[in-house]
Amino acid sequence: MKYIHPRCMIRNMLRTFGYATVKHTLGHDAYWRLLARPSTLYAKLLFQDKPITATEIGVFAGMNAETILENLNVETLYLVDPYKPYLDARPVEAEETNKAFRIMAHNVMAKHNGHTRFLRMTSDEAVNKVPNYQDFIYVDGLHTFAQVTRDMEHYYPKLKQGGLLAGHDYNCEEVQKAVDNFTQTHGIPLLVNKVENTTENGWENASDWIIVKREVIA
Ligand SMILES: C[S@@+](CC[C@H](N)C(=O)[O-])C[C@H]1O[C@@H](n2cnc3c(N)ncnc32)[C@H](O)[C@@H]1O
Repeated sequence: MKYIHPRCMIRNMLRTFGYATVKHTLGHDAYWRLLARPSTLYAKLLFQDKPITATEIGVFAGMNAETILENLNVETLYLVDPYKPYLDARPVEAEETNKAFRIMAHNVMAKHNGHTRFLRMTSDEAVNKVPNYQDFIYVDGLHTFAQVTRDMEHYYPKLKQGGLLAGHDYNCEEVQKAVDNFTQTHGIPLLVNKVENTTENGWENASDWIIVKREVIA
């Protein structure tokens, strides 16, 4: 039998029946839990309903940020994204697209007004703007080895003891190399959710990597 990831199943349901019907049928909690990434569900287990401070690096249209806000008791979510053309994107098209995604993110976040803080800048530029003692930091910005390495080095120290550093796309080669290198260098245990069939399920089923801060690294 073909494996279908639950998040793909719910996306199919959403396409077929519409958001309102699915949400009404499942109820608020089940609906948002089904859409959440593994690291958000892990954070839910870890923090329960405790008020937390969190950061997402790489926000795009705000889809993952919304699942973080709906599943966790977030006092403030720092949203870091420069919304500028990056990698090999064509500048003119990318400028328009980035503007559209930035507006979408602001609209999605509107109902969480007072609990979000947009930092329209790169993760390198935001390091000193994001306060220390974060509970949960999610890395999903520029997926190069050098940037993921910098993001981990800059943001791991910003977590409380017991805080969670996680990210998307462990199945992406450069991300995996950076995460493996960081965790092995510092002897930090790594959790990765199992990807059953990435090609079939697309990005919905890309894997999350998760580490828990246990001690200060050298
Ligand atoms: C994969 S998307 C993020 C998707 C989002 N986390 C989600 O799951 O809904 C990557 C985002 O990273 C942003 N980005 C690119 N370079 C960045 C950087 N240096 N720092 C922070 N964000 C960056 C891009 O503008 C883009 O919106």
